[in-house]
Amino acid sequence: MQLVADRWYIVLDADELGTKPLGVRRHDTPLVFWRHAGAVHCARDQCPHRWARLSLGTVEDGCVTCPFHGFRFDGGGECTHMPPDGEGGPSRQMTVQTWEVREEHGFLWIWWGERRESYPPIPWFEELDEPGWRWRWSRIAETWDTHWTRVAENQLDFTHLPFVHRTSIGRGLDPTVQVSVESEGDRLTTWASNQETRLELIAPNLWRNRLGGKVNIVMVFVPIDEQTTHTYVRFYQRLVPVPLLGDLVCWLSKWPNAFILGQDRRVVTSQEPAPARLRNGEQLVKSDAPIIWFRRWQETHATQEES
Ligand code: FES
Ligand SMILES: [Fe+2]
Repeated sequence: MQLVADRWYIVLDADELGTKPLGVRRHDTPLVFWRHAGAVHCARDQCPHRWARLSLGTVEDGCVTCPFHGFRFDGGGECTHMPPDGEGGPSRQMTVQTWEVREEHGFLWIWWGERRESYPPIPWFEELDEPGWRWRWSRIAETWDTHWTRVAENQLDFTHLPFVHRTSIGRGLDPTVQVSVESEGDRLTTWASNQETRLELIAPNLWRNRLGGKVNIVMVFVPIDEQTTHTYVRFYQRLVPVPLLGDLVCWLSKWPNAFILGQDRRVVTSQEPAPARLRNGEQLVKSDAPIIWFRRWQETHATQEES
């Protein structure tokens, strides 16, 4: 799957991973996650012995243990125990590919790229680290039948609002609009002349809609494979910053948010061919400026890696 490498990617809501190994498909790759001693590990969900799914196994001594013949693999991918060999110990070739993982802001992130000595910090919207924000009861997760770039681009598109959302957030909006963009590194901010809101993307796949200083909608576009995307949506609010009442406000946001997502989904999953690329024949216009930025960002970083 074509993805800009050497970046942190959100792959799961951290609460989805309990004490047992969890197998998921991400980046068109089967992955197994497991917890041990406060850390999260991630490996290819395929035992190198005879390719059984490690996620069907257990965690023993901090290692994911294959359900088929009991081989164990640590967070670095080394085989630490090979029962048929007894005292002889595992061979050095018996390794499984692993990825660096972080658990931050309630998400699990993997470093998609070469392993290295040290890693850059997790990119995030610093404002959301300030006290008073509540979001936990607001979570929505959906799987859409389309490429993740289509889901991301839809969240950078102001001009669909009066049409796709004409019965909800786009009601009565003037369709004539000037769209502006500003960017720095992997971060894009975009706004429109007919709306108060600001949209921000931390490429590749983390987005927020900043509705003033007290309400934000955060959305993540998680690539599963070329035709499938998992999305996580959260409603951050500090209008009501107290427990329970504030949590109730978050919980109530789920229904309108899910309704709006449904309006998007119907149209976005109709776009073909699925992956969004520059010069693919689509006739982009001036108001597509944020979408052009995103396509350029991907192309630029993909090219840099090849050279
Ligand atoms: S297939 Fe995993 S130990 Fe044999
Ligand atoms: Fe939309």
